[in-house]
Amino acid sequence: MPPVAENDLFIRTASGGRDGLRADFPIFSRTFGGSDSSPPRPLIYLDSAASSQKPAVVIEALAEHLRSHNANVHRGVYGLAQEADAAYDGARRRVASFVGGEPRTTIFTKNATEAINLVAYAWGRANVGAGDAVLITQMEHHANIVPWQVLCRERGATLRYLEVDEHGELSLEQLDAELAHGDVKLLALAHVSNVLGTINPVAEMAARARAAGVVTLVDGAQAVPQMPVDVAALGADFYTWTGHKALGPTGIGVLHGRRELLEQMEPFLTGGDMISSVDFQSASWNELPYKFEAGTPPIAEAVGLGAAVEYLDRLGMERVRAHEQALTTYMLERLAEVPGLRVVGPPTADRRGGLASFTLAGIHPHDVAELVDRGGVCIRAGHHCAQPLMRCLGVGATARASVGVYNDQSDIDALIDALQTGREVFGL
Ligand SMILES: Cc1ncc(COP(=O)(O)O)c(C=O)c1O
Repeated sequence: MPPVAENDLFIRTASGGRDGLRADFPIFSRTFGGSDSSPPRPLIYLDSAASSQKPAVVIEALAEHLRSHNANVHRGVYGLAQEADAAYDGARRRVASFVGGEPRTTIFTKNATEAINLVAYAWGRANVGAGDAVLITQMEHHANIVPWQVLCRERGATLRYLEVDEHGELSLEQLDAELAHGDVKLLALAHVSNVLGTINPVAEMAARARAAGVVTLVDGAQAVPQMPVDVAALGADFYTWTGHKALGPTGIGVLHGRRELLEQMEPFLTGGDMISSVDFQSASWNELPYKFEAGTPPIAEAVGLGAAVEYLDRLGMERVRAHEQALTTYMLERLAEVPGLRVVGPPTADRRGGLASFTLAGIHPHDVAELVDRGGVCIRAGHHCAQPLMRCLGVGATARASVGVYNDQSDIDALIDALQTGREVFGL
């Protein structure tokens, strides 16, 4: 197996290797455990699909904002408040341009879950009624299932699912057949699956939906951190993602929406900041994007996310994708060496994002995660907030290893060693 050569982000710095790009992330200077008989272990983090680690520039941007520029936004005339306004609005411009969006149609929420709920409430309640259908897929995260279940139950609509085939892929023929029923109002699907890793052909699917008069929402929570995304080019009506998986802080998510739809929609949450004026009995709404940002927004978090996307921009998202794809190829090859291990999802890394979910014969996924933790490797085990998909796969849970910009081949090697040791512990 050749090393993850030209595209390796680690060649960016003179020091290279483990100390290269990883040195930008202070958490990797931490160690765990350690005793008289065993040295402390470094952090081997293979759980970026759950949440990414943060570079120093993000931590510092957050701290610097709180230290020197902190004030509420959109209400103060004094200089410090204007600095806070500039920081928040500047972060929105940076975040919007990172994914080809417009600031006016880029709305900050608490996370991706809230962004999807915003659409389910503000667009869904006005546009989905009895006899209509919402079409999602079997590979969705609960964040992109439950809001539609609640909407459909409330409105007397039907929730239907596009199936996942044995390679973890969706079928465009099934999409066409579903659209041909004429009752679908909304198609909602993941750009990249958090379990299978599948990269869905969302531009093509959104185009087919649009031709059938169907609105599309794409859940980009796993896509934005790891590949170039251009929301305008993708053509979906709504695109959602979350800051903490994209090297940014927790507490901030993003919704990009088609302007005409956002303008027609009623607010999701109401209160301060989202109004233009309030009388005793009624109120009128602020302009976009503020109409959808009730109350004090996540100001410092937006500043942190702005620093995160600037950092990713400097790396270059093409290189990030190339790095993670090469590592995933390596991971798939090495996982194939472990007897009894079955990876779910597309067989090759060109069709998947930077993760591999797997089962190991004879060991429950939770035990797998615990065993590899003894070797200092952090992976996730469970249903990954995708219980319907687990049912389709015929498993209760999987273990999942996912990579980020700071991982290299040595992390995958450590995972494989830990898995092999775990098999020995279980007498396999
Ligand atoms: C595909 C996908 N969608 C949505 C979410 C929800 O993100 P958040 O919890 O930040 O709202 C996740 C998080 O794991 C995810 O993987």
